[in-house]
Amino acid sequence: NKGKYEHYMQKEIHEQPESLTTTMRGRLIRGGSCKAKTVLLGGLKDHLKTIRRSRRIVFIGCGTSYNAALAARPILEELSGVPVTMEIASDLLDRQGPIYREDTAVFVSQSGETADTLHALEYALENGALCVGITNTVGSVIARKTHCGVHINAGCEIGVASTKAYTSQIVVMAILALAIGGDTISNQERREAIIDGLFDLPNKIRDVLKLDQEMKDLAKLLIAEQSLLVFGRGYNYATALEGALKVKEVALMHSEGILAGEMKHGPLALVDENLPIVVIATRDACFSKQQSVIQQLHARKGRLIVMCSKGDAASVCSGGACRVIEVSYVEDCLQPVVNVVPLQLLAYHLTVLRGYNVDQPRNLAKSVTTQ
Ligand code: UD1
Ligand code: BG6
Repeated sequence: NKGKYEHYMQKEIHEQPESLTTTMRGRLIRGGSCKAKTVLLGGLKDHLKTIRRSRRIVFIGCGTSYNAALAARPILEELSGVPVTMEIASDLLDRQGPIYREDTAVFVSQSGETADTLHALEYALENGALCVGITNTVGSVIARKTHCGVHINAGCEIGVASTKAYTSQIVVMAILALAIGGDTISNQERREAIIDGLFDLPNKIRDVLKLDQEMKDLAKLLIAEQSLLVFGRGYNYATALEGALKVKEVALMHSEGILAGEMKHGPLALVDENLPIVVIATRDACFSKQQSVIQQLHARKGRLIVMCSKGDAASVCSGGACRVIEVSYVEDCLQPVVNVVPLQLLAYHLTVLRGYNVDQPRNLAKSVTTQ
């Protein structure tokens, strides 16, 4: 049931304040004034010790689910104290890459049925790793075959392009980072800031959803373009990949997410006054590096659309003309949850304006159960 919406993708983008609330329900604990703030993942509580003792945590997934794990990687590295690596399921299988008994392998899949991810799970089980699932579908094959896991509880997702599952996956993995990390005096302030940030996320998403009309106007400007680049780094490298994936899969426009740190090693050659480039430059430890990327793009007359934190519009555009998307600030590791929303909206409007099928893009399936 699409309710008041025209398409499922549109509905699923707009219901993210509610889906995130459901994802977090019962999992964040904020006691009275002197009680510590903490987290609870019922499905993992008996396995946290093993995860903490593992030699490595390896995230495995495909498409949007892979991007969600990539978005959560920095906070997992920071809080868990365990090395975190990433594998695209098909690539792990192609290489028959190393998975050991001492590894924790985390399988991220909205449907819980993706063949590549499932085969990678069977491979990791054979190799003796602890296998953890992060799925949206209770009773799915990945949920059943993993040793333990977390349901993201985002509600049924129908649009082929994943939107609300992506933001719920990141939130679950941030909670996972808090759960693995445990309380220490030295990280208490950081943990509390993240938990407060999680509580506040639905409101921040409501804020950013108000950019709907602005994203529609931007889509009108981009409707006839051949290509769109999205530059990100740090916490928002994944946002660049995911934003580009949305544009590619539904709007059927070539789009590439680019790690901004790699700009001068190739992508800079593409920059001219015609190619539209989205640069994600919200406030975090990489902000000044992104400002210098923007300066370099301005110097080459790049056609820029800069996503920045509220109040930063003038400073990010000081070196030349650009369009700005201003978003609310949240704790740095949660910023990808906010930042992806305008890009979801942009992809949605571009698709409708270009006259393509939003909910069922050509050649794609919601759940790819063959290899
Ligand atoms: C569970 C209940 C929830 C209830 C809550 C109350 C289910 C599905 N969930 O939620 O309805 O409100 O307790 O305490 O009944 N699992 C995997 N692989 C996966 C995902 C999950 O093995 O990919 C396992 C978990 O380890 C766990 C079980 O499935 O044993 C349920 O996981 P989850 O729904 O995340 O647990 P709770 O949040 O505790
Ligand atoms: C398909 C979908 O390719 O599978 C994507 O079209 C999705 O939207 C990918 O990200 C992975 O799916 P899942 O269910 O394993 O998260």
